[in-house]
Formats: sequence, C-alpha cells, structure tokens
Amino acid sequence: MFNKRTKIKDLLSWTPDGQEVTVMGWVRSFRNNQFIALNDGSTNQNLQVFAELGKFDDQLLKRFTTSASLKIQGHLVASLGKGQVMELKADHIEVLGDSDGEAYPLQPKKHSLEFLREIAHLRFRTNTFSSVFRIRHSLAFAVHQFFNDKGFVYLHTPIITASDAEGAGEMFRVTTLPFDNPPRNEDGTVNFTEDFFGKSTNLTVSGQLEGELGATALGEIYTFGPTFRAENSNTSRHLAEFWMIEPEMAFFDLEDNMNLAEEFIHYLISYVMKNNPQDLEFLSQRLTEEEKQLPQDKRSEMTLLEKLAFVNDNVFERITYTEAVDILLNSPAYKKKKFQYEVKWGIDLQSEHERYLVEKHFKKPVIVTNYPKDIKAFYMRQNDDGKTVAAMDILAPGIGEIVGGSQREERMDKLVERMEQMHVPADELWWYLDTRRFGTVPHAGFGLGFERMVQFVTGMTNIRDVIAFPRAPKQAEF
Ligand code: 4AD
Ligand code: MG
Repeated sequence: MFNKRTKIKDLLSWTPDGQEVTVMGWVRSFRNNQFIALNDGSTNQNLQVFAELGKFDDQLLKRFTTSASLKIQGHLVASLGKGQVMELKADHIEVLGDSDGEAYPLQPKKHSLEFLREIAHLRFRTNTFSSVFRIRHSLAFAVHQFFNDKGFVYLHTPIITASDAEGAGEMFRVTTLPFDNPPRNEDGTVNFTEDFFGKSTNLTVSGQLEGELGATALGEIYTFGPTFRAENSNTSRHLAEFWMIEPEMAFFDLEDNMNLAEEFIHYLISYVMKNNPQDLEFLSQRLTEEEKQLPQDKRSEMTLLEKLAFVNDNVFERITYTEAVDILLNSPAYKKKKFQYEVKWGIDLQSEHERYLVEKHFKKPVIVTNYPKDIKAFYMRQNDDGKTVAAMDILAPGIGEIVGGSQREERMDKLVERMEQMHVPADELWWYLDTRRFGTVPHAGFGLGFERMVQFVTGMTNIRDVIAFPRAPKQAEF
C-alpha cells in the first residue's frame, strides 16, 4: 500500500511529541538547504520539514525545487523557529517527481489573476485558488445538505434538450449532422429528422421545466448541474458554462419561495464560515490587500469576513420592481445623470441599477419582486394588474443578480395564452402543459447561479476565477 500518508491539515492539529509520520506533497520553497515548506492541498498552511545538515546527500537536496513532489518520513517535533509550532524532522525523503524550477511558471512571488488564468491547469497550486476551490467544494456539499435535510429530492435533469426553457434563444446546438453539407428539406432548411435525436437539440439553459415535472409529483425537488448559455457577454459575471441550483416546490407561493431562497443563502454562508475559517480568513486578507490599490471611495467598507457576517445577521430587503424604479428615479445618481442606461418603468434593470440599489441605497441584499411581464419568461405567474408577474430576483452586493425565480403560472388558459403571445411553441411543450392539465397546483422555484454564489463568498471579482476551467466567448482552453 502506497498511501500511508497523514494529511497536513490533520497533522497540524496534533501536539507534536515525536510521532512518526509520512507526508506527501509539493515543495513550495526550500531555504538554507534545510527547510522545506511542503504543501499537500489539504490546507493553505505548509508543513515545515527540517532536513538536518549533513544527513542527506547533496544530489538529493538539489532536487527539492519548487513544485517537486516528495514523500517524507520523519518525526513530528516542536519547532524552535518562529512562525510554526511544529515541524517534521525528516528521516527519509524520496522525490516522487522532479520539477524543473527554472521552467515552472509559478515563482514564489505575487502573480496577477489574469496571468494565473492563462495557466489555469497550475493555478490550484496557489494559496488563493486552493482556498477558492476548497470553499467551492464546501458550498456544493452544503447545497446537498440543506435540501436533503428538508426532504427535497435531487433530480438529475437532462443536459441535452429540445426546448428553450428561458425562451431567450441563447443555446448551443447539439448535432451529429455534417455542418458543411447537412440534409435539407425541400425549402432549403436543415432536415433535423435525420439528426441523431430526430429533432433539433441543444445544451440546456435551465433544468427548470423538467424540475416542475418532478415537483408536481415528488413535492419538492432540486437540480444542481451544468447549464449553458451562448450569450456573447464578456463580463466578470457571465460564463457560457455555469452551474445552477434550481429548487422547485409544489404548494409554494412567491413569498414561500423568497423565504426559502433567503434561508438557503444564509445557510450556505454559515456553512462556509463554520467549515472553512482559514480559507476565508486568507481570502479576506487577500481582498483587503488587493483593494489597497483602489482609490479610497472604491474600496469595500467591510472586509469579506465582516460582509458575510453582516449578510447573515440581517434580513434581505424586499421591494417591488415598481418601488425599485422609483428609488432609482429619485436617486442622486439619476439626477446627476450618472447612470449610463435609461431608467423608466418597463426597462430591464441594468447591473449599474442593481448595484446602486444594493450597494448604495440599501447596503444589503435586496429581493426585487413583481417585474413587468414583458421582460420575464413565459412561465411566470401573471399578477392581477395585467402588467406584472410574480417574479423575484435576489441582488447581492458586488455581484448583482444572484438568484432568479418566480411563482409559476399554474392556470392552463393563462399559460397557453402567454405562450402564444411570446411565440413559445405549445405543441413542443405538450409534456410541460400536462402538469397543468392533470391536477395543477400553485408552485414556485428559483435558480441560484453557483459561481456567483462562490464569488460572493470568496470575494473573487471575476467569475472566471471561481470555476476550474472557465468557458466564455473565445475561451475553451484546458
Ligand atoms: O435568471 P435565470 O436566467 O433563471 C433561470 O434560468 C430560471 N429557470 C431559474 C428558475 O427559476 N429555476 O438564471 C438564474 C441564475 C441567475 O440569477 C444567475 O445567478 C445565474 O443563474 N446565471 C449565470 N451565471 C453565470 N453565467 C451566466 N451566463 C448566467 N446566467 C444566469
Ligand atoms: Mg434572471
């Protein structure tokens, strides 16, 4: 058996008194020909390994270059040096894999996040990214914990679908037809009956429609999977491939939906605060350090840790879309013509408007409800005013929209009418309409953008730094 190692994270919680241990990891640094800082990915903290002078062959010492991988057997002793309570006094050191220190792109200095994005295959080896990805893992785990504890069923909805759930037409096509010479119909259009699935298919933009099928039988379900959008948005908040969590609940109205979403976000934050304190502390300091380059008024008023605690200690503000527009119209920013985009009832709130509401006006997360029906999807429940739908978006500081959801239109006639108006093909969605036909119920759900949540918790400003291998316009390396 090879893997008889102790993880550094575990070992650091012991009281050193000569225990014999084996560790394995990668060299972060090697100084004075004696001290190896070893990292094994279990924590940001390195283990100091002491290679006593004269004990090891010079040829071996030369191989302790940055990122070389080592297997070390030794005894855990109290450290005499400053900065660590213990060190591993090495008896045996084996190089598992050499690393050409000159060619290794990560030098022991600060690299920009842009540079690290170009070497995304190695960036897990930095403190910043190892913290981000341990937290991302914790959040994913917490998602399942939260819903499992509530009795929700985890539903795996398909990745390949024939429908456009959001009706926004921003889809990646899936086909096996030869694109240089596809079979054609008489009118010249592509004949998809000859395609793999016998119809035109795409990567899913949302699992919601299938989620509703599950919820209207199982009661409460959630999905957690990859979703794809071919929107040409080159921003710090958009990806072409992102992960989304979509709970869908029978017998929920809009308010039930908001309550659940708020509880969920609080739960996720608390979970990470409890389980990843060192990683959060590190990222909080990193952000404060990074913001020192910004002018005073652009810096955050709170540290990342303070912000997370604040969000958890306060309830989210709840306002209607109409109230939001009024606040914007009466804002100093509007009067001084600081907004680039027009503000009037009926517009889709732009990110500058969302950020004003959240960061300047309320200074905390805001849930905006009852949007105009014309800027929202066909499935949202129509309000009695004839103008708005029972939608809710949650806006978070620094992120903007983090959750989008609604109560669903459960009334067959209203739904069909809306689909016609919005040119959503009712015949193709016959299976969706069957839920309204056979025992329809009030129900609601929402989607949380997982990467935006990871951004919020880690304080990373660019969404490409919270997913291992980002997919964005003109970017599919690795
Ligand atoms: O608001 P959206 O488009 O809502 C839906 O897809 C609904 N079907 C959800 C539901 O009710 N079940 O997307 C939901 C969330 C957004 O609030 C945002 O956090 C995230 O998904 N999101 C993106 N994240 C990264 N990159 C993109 N291109 C995203 N588009 C949406
Ligand atoms: Mg949305």
